[in-house]
Amino acid sequence: MITIALSKGRIFEETLPLLKAAGIEVLEDPEKSRKLILTTNQPDVRVLVVRATDVPTYVQYGGADLGITGKDTLLEHGSQGLYQPLDLRIAKCRISVAVRSDFDYQSAVKKGSRLTVATKYVAISRDFFASKGVHVDLIKLYGSMELAPLVGLADAIVDLVSTGNTLKANHLVEVEHIMDISSRLVVNQAALKLKQAQLRPIIDAFESAVAAG
Ligand code: PRP
Repeated sequence: MITIALSKGRIFEETLPLLKAAGIEVLEDPEKSRKLILTTNQPDVRVLVVRATDVPTYVQYGGADLGITGKDTLLEHGSQGLYQPLDLRIAKCRISVAVRSDFDYQSAVKKGSRLTVATKYVAISRDFFASKGVHVDLIKLYGSMELAPLVGLADAIVDLVSTGNTLKANHLVEVEHIMDISSRLVVNQAALKLKQAQLRPIIDAFESAVAAG
C-alpha cells in the first residue's frame, strides 16, 4: 500500500493533474465527503486528507509514504526524516513582511528599534530578521495575521501573499519579500528504500509532469 498525505484546497486541486500523470485518480472529493482516507483507481494507493501543517509530520513518522507540502510549512517543521526530491512548482506564492500603510518600516528598522512581528511563521521570521540584525519580538498567531497591525498587536506581520488582495483589503502594504514559496514532494526516507519499486515510478511521473510544465 502507498499512502499519500495531502491537504484540502489549493494543494489538493493542483496535485490532481500530477497524480493523473502517475496514473492515479482520486475517487472521492474531500470538499464533499467527511472521509479522511480517500480511495483511488489504484487499489494499492490511498490518499490521506490532513491539515497542511501536519503533512510533514505524517510523512516523517511513516503515517504516509509521500506528501505534498509548501516550502513555508517545511521550513517551519524542519526536514528531519524527509527526502525532498522535487519542487512541484505548484501553489506558488511568496512570504513577505507587511505593515500598515502609515507605519514607517524603513526608519523603524534603521533605528534599530525593536519591532513587534505577528506571524504563523516563527522560524522563518526569526531567521530573516536575525540575518538583517533587526531585533524582533515575535507573537505567534494561527491565522488572520492581517488583523494584528490594525488593532495594535504588532508593528508588522510575516505572511503568505499571493494576489495581494488580502493585504489591500486590510490597508496593509508589503515592505519586504522574504522568499518565494511553492509546494514540494516529500518522501519518508525509510519508505523510499523499502518501497522503492512502487514509489520510484510515481516520483518519476511527477518529475516528468513538472518538467513538461
Ligand atoms: C493566505 C494568507 C493570506 C492570503 C493571501 O491565507 O495567510 O491571508 O492567503 O492571499 P492573497 O494575497 O491572494 O490575498 P489562506 O487563505 O491560505 O488561509 P490561512 O489564513 O489559513 O493561512
